[in-house]
Amino acid sequence: MITINEHYLKLQASYLFSDIAKRVAAFQKNNPDKDIIKLGIGDVTRGLPAAAIKAFHDAVDEMANDATFKGYGPEQGYDFLRQAIAINDFQSRGADIAADEIFVSDGAKCDTGNIQELFSQDIKIAIPDPVYPVYLDTNVMAGRTGTFTDGRYQGLIYLDSTRENNFVPTLPAEDVDLIYLCFPNNPTGSTISKAELKTWVDYAREHKALILFDAAYEAFIRDESLPKSIYEIEGAKEVAIEFRSFSKSAGFTGTRCAYTVVPKQCAAYDSSGNRHFLHSLWNRRHCTKFNGVSYPVQRAAEAVYSEEGKAQAKALIDYYMENSMAVCNTMDTLGYDYVGGKNSPYIWIDGRMDSWLFFDMLLNKTGVVCTPGAGFGKCGNGYIRISAFNSHEKVKEAMQRLTKVLSA
Ligand code: MLT
Repeated sequence: MITINEHYLKLQASYLFSDIAKRVAAFQKNNPDKDIIKLGIGDVTRGLPAAAIKAFHDAVDEMANDATFKGYGPEQGYDFLRQAIAINDFQSRGADIAADEIFVSDGAKCDTGNIQELFSQDIKIAIPDPVYPVYLDTNVMAGRTGTFTDGRYQGLIYLDSTRENNFVPTLPAEDVDLIYLCFPNNPTGSTISKAELKTWVDYAREHKALILFDAAYEAFIRDESLPKSIYEIEGAKEVAIEFRSFSKSAGFTGTRCAYTVVPKQCAAYDSSGNRHFLHSLWNRRHCTKFNGVSYPVQRAAEAVYSEEGKAQAKALIDYYMENSMAVCNTMDTLGYDYVGGKNSPYIWIDGRMDSWLFFDMLLNKTGVVCTPGAGFGKCGNGYIRISAFNSHEKVKEAMQRLTKVLSA
């Protein structure tokens, strides 16, 4: 008899964004004339930077020709892209990351979900609340939690992010082994200062713990004093793995390219206390289960680091940040409390009511789709997340509709 991994039965019915998509589809079916504006899932809407498109086309042409055709590439990514990443994203900011510490992949979602395979079953995991559901669900699937009771999985240490701590969790009181952090944060849009991030790095060093640092939204940082990478903090290379993505920084959500940094000295321990380097373990996993991102996509990603590519990607970010400002201004006018939006494409708004009720009310009365905060965890209840990824016109229209309903 074939039996299942029963840990899957502990999961909530469906992945948050699939659940929302279903609700929106049902609403659209029942209200075919209603014009829906999606400010829910953080999915980009604008075309790729022209430099990336040109490189993409050229690389596709190379694939048509026997002389320039590429078969399987290196699983870790082509050296041209790994070098461009190391120089532009790290070395240029004083973070000493080498090209061979970078693993190119098809998404930060997959990498943040897969990385937990490297760790033992009985580790103590600290996970923020609210949180990007992938970190949580993949640990549930792997059997590292108990059941879901009163809005939380047993056996995890939740790091509350609330108004009281400015949506930056404080260090856990107990010893933990694995810590998930994401800044600029999804979903709250909050940011962390270098001094605050240093307290986490120091904690990890002291406790022989590991930080999984999701920096998928670093491109939205406007305040130059904020860290874009955890490796800007001294000592982080020993205790942190960082995840990045071209999805939001260069519009690659549908093109798929991301990367994970595993520094050579970053280590974890076996049950006898012997140190093992995670670089070789992740390399082993990556080579076994992944066959690399397609050559044209990697060429497109490389072009994002050309002079024109950088300017075009910055223009994309600036475009979405104008939307963020428009949402923040509307909330200021309406007198709603919020965080985020200043260094992030997400605005986390205190909706003053149950967040699913707020979601339904907005959808029904305005046709605007947001993400209910409760979908990201218990601390998210009462909040909604608005994403800045849409056209200026649609965001302006959405804010006008919201203003009518919320100021009534
Ligand atoms: C989100 O809306 O939180 C993100 O788009 C999800 C993701 O990047 O997978």
